[in-house]
Amino acid sequence: MHANFSPATQQVLIALGERSYAIAIGAGLLGDPAAYRNLPSASTALIVSNGTVAPLYAQPLQRALQAHYQRVLLLTLPDGEMHKDWPTLQLIFDALLANACDRKTVLFALGGGVVGDMTGFAAACYMRGVPFVQVPTTLLAQVDSSVGGKTGINHPLGKNMVGAFYQPQRVICDLDVLKTLPPRELSAGLAEIIKYGPIADMAFFGWIEANIEALLAREPVALAYAIGRSCEIKAAVVGQDERESGLRAILNFGHTFGHAIESGLGYGQWHHGEGVGCGMVMAAHLSQRLGLVDAAFVSRLRTLVQRAGLPVTGPKLSPVDNAGRYLELMRVDKKAEAGEIRFVVIDGPGSAALRSAPDALVREVIDACCG
Ligand code: NAD
Ligand code: GLY
Repeated sequence: MHANFSPATQQVLIALGERSYAIAIGAGLLGDPAAYRNLPSASTALIVSNGTVAPLYAQPLQRALQAHYQRVLLLTLPDGEMHKDWPTLQLIFDALLANACDRKTVLFALGGGVVGDMTGFAAACYMRGVPFVQVPTTLLAQVDSSVGGKTGINHPLGKNMVGAFYQPQRVICDLDVLKTLPPRELSAGLAEIIKYGPIADMAFFGWIEANIEALLAREPVALAYAIGRSCEIKAAVVGQDERESGLRAILNFGHTFGHAIESGLGYGQWHHGEGVGCGMVMAAHLSQRLGLVDAAFVSRLRTLVQRAGLPVTGPKLSPVDNAGRYLELMRVDKKAEAGEIRFVVIDGPGSAALRSAPDALVREVIDACCG
């Protein structure tokens, strides 16, 4: 791999009929006016970002958008998962109304998954729907959250519990923005990349094992391949099951345990990708206890998650009944049905399924996996 070589721009198509769109992945895209050609025409664009990302990237985006819009507005939200909530969402509507934005206004989500999920939800709601574009700036957002149209906010009782399916018009993944990402956020993104291996493509999993150091060193060619392959896998799943009536649930491998960790500790303590990393190890243990995979698979996944710089031991969420607390939190999950938790388990190489499991077995997993 050559650290300074810029890979050519790739395009991945999300095929959803009239709601189809392209993900562009390449270096230098964010500030290139050509990246924003042929979007729905409008007089106004509103960039939604946060206090960390806006100082780094709002200006080049603003300049690029000025080639296409008479007015390019910027709204800077407070940064952090704890702000993925109603009061912060309201700030987007406040800005749209205060600036007399009409129903053609295009929103641009400039940031990680938090900004992307909230901006998408605001776009779905404002005047019953305005177009939006994802300009993801974290690795996690480039490989997962900006793609597929899941938008929303958290509720104190459950993660991502209020939202809408609403597809963006385009996704612009600029590899250059990953240079400023803190190492902890890079690792969080690697969790979602690793996820695609066990659920869909063990050859890709093997490639990640062989290239994890290159990814951690942010080698552009390695990152471009990992982002492109992740988006291809996600595009194939979303193209078959946009609204998660079945198959799409496999993209939540590790998330049932991970969301419990995130909400149980309080949003923002563990990062989403950290919860997913540790949650995948816990879900692999559960798969083993259900007789679906062997110990060697669990160990292989655990090793890779750890090499990516992610936690593999779950936190204690209660000093009294830790497993009980996890179970209580996991019952507030969108996959749960009639109070029964359903887990994404691995049931073969590169294959995942949705299963329920006896509480006693889940307790064993939590006891074995928490420090
Ligand atoms: P995030 O949006 O909180 O970003 C992480 C941190 O990195 C923030 O402090 C942010 O300001 C900073 N940052 C972003 N880009 C940067 C850059 N280029 N340089 C320096 N700092 C930068 O977190 P995330 O991991 O991107 O996203 C997590 C969120 O995404 C969670 O809320 C999760 O629920 C959601 N998510 C949604 C989906 C979906 O399908 N919609 C999928 C996965 C995750
Ligand atoms: N991140 C899970 C999904 O998009 O379905």
